[in-house]
Amino acid sequence: MTDIDQNALVTVDVTLSVNGVAHTRAVEPRRLLSDFLRHDLRLTGTHVGCEHGVCGACTVLVDGEPMRSCLMFAVSAQEHSITTVEGLGTQEAMGPVQQAFVECHGLQCGFCTPGFVTTITAFIEENPDPTSEEAREAISGNLCRCTGYQNICKAVVRAAEIKRNLTAEKSAKTDQGDSQ
Ligand code: FES
Ligand code: FES
Repeated sequence: MTDIDQNALVTVDVTLSVNGVAHTRAVEPRRLLSDFLRHDLRLTGTHVGCEHGVCGACTVLVDGEPMRSCLMFAVSAQEHSITTVEGLGTQEAMGPVQQAFVECHGLQCGFCTPGFVTTITAFIEENPDPTSEEAREAISGNLCRCTGYQNICKAVVRAAEIKRNLTAEKSAKTDQGDSQ
């Protein structure tokens, strides 16, 4: 009879498209997407707080939609395109939400910030001109222990404004190009 080693690790090859790049790693089938991103890919911008889907710190975009990465297995993410906070801009070239957080002082310790940035990025795609009330509602699923939300709410409205300005600039350039 063959002995079965109960401690042997069963792994599967997982290939995920993260921030536009395909990564393959051998992982246990129960590997969470949050752990895959942080430990296997070293994309530590995705933060883990509650690990129960409550705090929103681990939010990433899955095909553009906000998703708790602590509630998803890496194997289940294979068919999808994942965007982490690292894919939304750099210090030198910040995305609209990151820029708005800086301008509005939307953070203190910053722990919750990546989850807010991803959540708000998806929100302003859907609602490009939100009211303050809509902004507050949009981030109600993300918890922040530091800021009392005032500046984060302001950052949502400002991010939408920055995005609208960028879109207007782009279409003005396209119009100029067309008329030349
Ligand atoms: S760590 Fe995923 S929701 Fe809190
Ligand atoms: S800035 Fe500290 S938890 Fe949000």
